Amino acid sequence: MNIRQICRDIHYVGVNDRTTEKFEALWPLPYGVSYNSYIVIGKEKTALIDSVSISEIGAYLSHIRDIMGERQPDYLVVNHMEPDHSGSIPEIIRAFPDIRIVGNSKTIDMIGGFYNIDDNERFLEIKDGDSIDLGGHTLGFFLTPMIHWPETMMTYVEDCGVLFSGDAFGTFGALNGGVIDAEMLIGKYISEMYRYYSNIVGKYGRFVEKAIDKLSGLDIAYICPTHGPVWHDSLPEVLDIVKRLAGYRPDKGVVIIYGSMYGNTAQTAEKIAEYFAAQGERNIIIHNAAVAPMSIMISDAFRFDTLIVGSATYSMRLFPAVETLMNALETREIKNKTFAIFGNFSWAKGAVISKLVEFAERMKLPVAARMAIKQNPDSTAEPEIEKFVKDVTAARENERE
Ligand code: FEO
Repeated sequence: MNIRQICRDIHYVGVNDRTTEKFEALWPLPYGVSYNSYIVIGKEKTALIDSVSISEIGAYLSHIRDIMGERQPDYLVVNHMEPDHSGSIPEIIRAFPDIRIVGNSKTIDMIGGFYNIDDNERFLEIKDGDSIDLGGHTLGFFLTPMIHWPETMMTYVEDCGVLFSGDAFGTFGALNGGVIDAEMLIGKYISEMYRYYSNIVGKYGRFVEKAIDKLSGLDIAYICPTHGPVWHDSLPEVLDIVKRLAGYRPDKGVVIIYGSMYGNTAQTAEKIAEYFAAQGERNIIIHNAAVAPMSIMISDAFRFDTLIVGSATYSMRLFPAVETLMNALETREIKNKTFAIFGNFSWAKGAVISKLVEFAERMKLPVAARMAIKQNPDSTAEPEIEKFVKDVTAARENERE
């Protein structure tokens, strides 16, 4: 049985990690994660494409030997140096002492820095557009910086239409038996793709768009990312999702995120949602910033077109969980949102609104509506909340026309 074959002479040798709880020590992994690696077997030479986290080195070497037997891989192509893919390089060298590492000048510099490997004979430096003939299969290299580090590149095998895309087109979720999308139900991987993209790659949309443009002339049948399924049947759907995310073109939906100490800001958020529901909006998501995972709040804020942030006043500042969220959104340079803000106060009416406006100005997000509610949002606050929702809706309709 070999369900790990992608196409002729190209095999999957990646591994699953169902132990690590947080990717990059930050992002929850409820379904695990795969570190994908592949082998291309030519008539004369063989190449490993990317490697895996050091935590899974035992399973990884055994997968390589399952395919290669006693034959040693000649090359290790390093498309990306983040340690979830490069961490096992020293062990690969130990296992295959003659292997040569293929990368660009930045890759080679990073390998020296991370792993103290500076033996020039070990490296084969490539430039954009270079290729390596393995005999029957040729590896073509495309430098695609900042997806999601400066050294990132992609490798293309033309005769099979296979693109090894690094982190681009990746998603969270370990693989459960199948490797290619046609061998599994992909719904969970698609929903995790939004979280993966926004959490990991989100800041670098313009570089993703550049890479997609650069590769647009290639005839691609399989995209083999470093995380998640190999895309074949679902390639158009996945390409469309990544293009929309990279271009900050959101899906329709209202995301309301609040921080509340004693429930008054929470009640305001609930009432905002009720007014949206009453006027027909069906995709409304509310997050309590003190409780909801940051990873999911970032993902929803990134994905949907309308973002409303509210905060209790906390020592004249934002509620801390809301400030942390706004910092994370600013880091990801989210754009193209209908953005609105609200706050609850007892005696410092303008404090949270002015702090949220500062974030909005730095993020170049126009503020569609703002509202400060004194203490409990009782019936006297209803007209103000209703007007707030109408103002957001009007701005939203203008912006999406
Ligand atoms: Fe999966 Fe940027 O590493």
